[in-house]
Amino acid sequence: MDGVAASPFDVARIRQDFPILSQPQARGRPLVFLDSGASAQKPRVVIDAMVRCMETAYANVHRGAYRLSELATDAYEAARGATARFLNAADPREIVFTKNSTEAMNLVAHSWGRGVLQPGQAVLISELEHHANIVPWQMLRDDRGNELRVCRVTDAGELDMDDLEAKLADGKVGLVAVAHMSNVLGTVTPVDRIVALAHAHGAKVLLDGSQAAVHRRVDVQAIGCDFYCFTGHKLYGPTGIGVLWARLEHLERMPPFLGGGDMISVVTFEKSEWAPPPAKFEAGTPAIVEAVGLHAAIDYVTAIGMGAIEAHERALVDHATARLAQVPGLTLLGAAQDRGGVFAFGLDAAHPHDLATLLDRAGIAVRAGRHCAEPLHARFGLENGTTRASFGLYTTKDEIDLLAQALTEAREFFK
Ligand SMILES: Cc1ncc(COP(=O)(O)O)c(C=O)c1O
Repeated sequence: MDGVAASPFDVARIRQDFPILSQPQARGRPLVFLDSGASAQKPRVVIDAMVRCMETAYANVHRGAYRLSELATDAYEAARGATARFLNAADPREIVFTKNSTEAMNLVAHSWGRGVLQPGQAVLISELEHHANIVPWQMLRDDRGNELRVCRVTDAGELDMDDLEAKLADGKVGLVAVAHMSNVLGTVTPVDRIVALAHAHGAKVLLDGSQAAVHRRVDVQAIGCDFYCFTGHKLYGPTGIGVLWARLEHLERMPPFLGGGDMISVVTFEKSEWAPPPAKFEAGTPAIVEAVGLHAAIDYVTAIGMGAIEAHERALVDHATARLAQVPGLTLLGAAQDRGGVFAFGLDAAHPHDLATLLDRAGIAVRAGRHCAEPLHARFGLENGTTRASFGLYTTKDEIDLLAQALTEAREFFK
């Protein structure tokens, strides 16, 4: 479906697909939503698919012997198939639905980390990680003693690949777990090189695609990683659903994460036997309506074309890089060669929260704080955090101009 990418990307047309973008706003100004990196807005097709599911085809899945349950089960499994195609997974059984990408990484840390990773093996993350890719490994370290190593980030906000290689050199690292794209710096990490280096040193690779999967076409087979995760609500889908992709051979070796209904084949009071993957990792009633919504979101971005979305966002990145450089007193965090539409910055001495509040008065929604990446902000000496503008497929150059204008005015105000 990437062939659609050849058709011109009509952002004005696309904006009409998102009901919230035409809602009247509190101060009578149009909404300039620059917080898609935190959670993206939803197109009508996603909203409608979820309503239609609840109105016409809703029942619990994998259980009922009646038609409605079969319809719901088919819809839920169709979402798995669409997700597998979206990531170019070899097999739909490699797709595990989770609550979000945080749960996906916790699943790997708890299950693979405790069941497959050996005592004495280390986990290697990086300074640019979201807390979701830090805390589960700290918990594993504190529980099981697996060392946690951290790859440095350069002043430009890129992974220090020499440091990565040095930290792999002793062959003790069992897993490299890094973001495919930073939610603060916008840096897109060199996943091909990371996978090649990690595998050469005997380590598996988990990629946190929470940001990247929204902005670029992801082909897990071409990348060659072992685990990949993303979260539905950033991909224009609903909250409450995320995805863990893992090679089937890993899922087969991994013990379950949660126990309960649906993840077993036999239960007696003496012992239970596990269902094969992915059911082994989907205990309890899953997020059925949310899976239907995610399927609609995947169909939506696929029909537009991930290539076309990436090209649109590259143009936005170039525009924002040039426009923000003209704002007096503004310092951008990171200057990676390969980056996506996430810009974290400081403005002279203005506190990020004050700045975000002022921008809100101009109808511009941005995020302020440390964006669940406290160690990264500490690395750059920014304990107060930053202000962050992040783009989606509906973002326009005009909105970036409005941001630059509002920032210039804000500086005058704070002076
Ligand atoms: C890079 C990255 N990883 C993980 C997450 C966690 O996503 P979720 O809260 O949906 O689990 C986020 C969300 O901001 C993110 O940007």
